[in-house]
Amino acid sequence: MQRFWGEIMTNRTILLQNGVGMPQLGLGTWQVPDAAAERSVEHALRFGYRHIDTAVAYENESGVGRGLKRSGVGRGEVFLTSKILAECKNYGETKRMIDCSLRALGTDYLDLMLIHAPRPWDEMGDDNGYRYEEENAAVWRALEEGYTAGKFRAIGVSNFEIDDLRSLMRRCSIPPMVDQVRAYAGEIPWELLEFCRTNRIAAEAYSPLATGGLLKRGELAAIAEKYGVGVPQLCIAYVMQLGMIAIPKAVSPAHIEENTELGFTISEDDMRALAAL
Ligand SMILES: NC(=O)c1ccc[n+]([C@@H]2O[C@H](COP(=O)([O-])OP(=O)(O)OC[C@H]3O[C@@H](n4cnc5c(N)ncnc54)[C@H](OP(=O)(O)O)[C@@H]3O)[C@@H](O)[C@H]2O)c1
Repeated sequence: MQRFWGEIMTNRTILLQNGVGMPQLGLGTWQVPDAAAERSVEHALRFGYRHIDTAVAYENESGVGRGLKRSGVGRGEVFLTSKILAECKNYGETKRMIDCSLRALGTDYLDLMLIHAPRPWDEMGDDNGYRYEEENAAVWRALEEGYTAGKFRAIGVSNFEIDDLRSLMRRCSIPPMVDQVRAYAGEIPWELLEFCRTNRIAAEAYSPLATGGLLKRGELAAIAEKYGVGVPQLCIAYVMQLGMIAIPKAVSPAHIEENTELGFTISEDDMRALAAL
């Protein structure tokens, strides 16, 4: 089995290229309203999660911040990620958004700040469209300054393909440390993962359950049964065993808890079956 960039340590932390440790399992919060985000973040942190993923676009940073405070877990123990709006493609607006994000989350630093997408969402499907290369470089410069000023412990991107990464890496002073991309059983961007491995960019899998779409697949239930786990745990363990960081979203307290039951190793044969799904 191929293993991608990032060393899995005993406490399941991925070491980023600047030496910062990023917990390999986190809690996703997309489509979670502000008040519900407060509850799920509080529950997850009390239960033992140490990594939360949010974004300006999710409109729940305040709730995430309140959940963090209510959990009683120290700020320094939690890895917190947010993302600059995909539609924000200039330096000044990014600087303002950074400060708004920190204020909403009630913190003076983030562990990771990402550019949410290389292009505004309504242009993402257009392969021949404008690439926003200079604009992403300007947004990145604001992130680099935030990093240097201690507002971020790491900086990265999301939904960037190889060409987007190459373009940014030609223009940046500090290279991206993470690329958060859609990845789940049957839908792994293998070439991109190889590019990330070669360039020491940690690959983070979003939607590891295909936003719930994988949960009803009968062939997955049969594989999961061999390990005495459910389909969600199998799918989360799969992307983690590929060396990726996983951020399953759950609001149900039972789901939040179940998704940490990952103490098993998927066989080579089953890894191949999951890749071929
Ligand atoms: N960067 C990006 O552009 C981007 C895009 C998409 C997602 N993301 C990030 O990735 C995170 C995860 O992706 P996602 O939100 O698409 O969804 P996902 O994690 O693939 O799936 C979430 C769905 O699975 C259900 N679920 C979770 N654990 C379960 C369990 N143990 N048993 C049964 N059902 C379970 C959840 O239900 P309940 O909620 O009811 O518990 C929810 O309906 C997002 O929340 C976000 O933080 C980033």
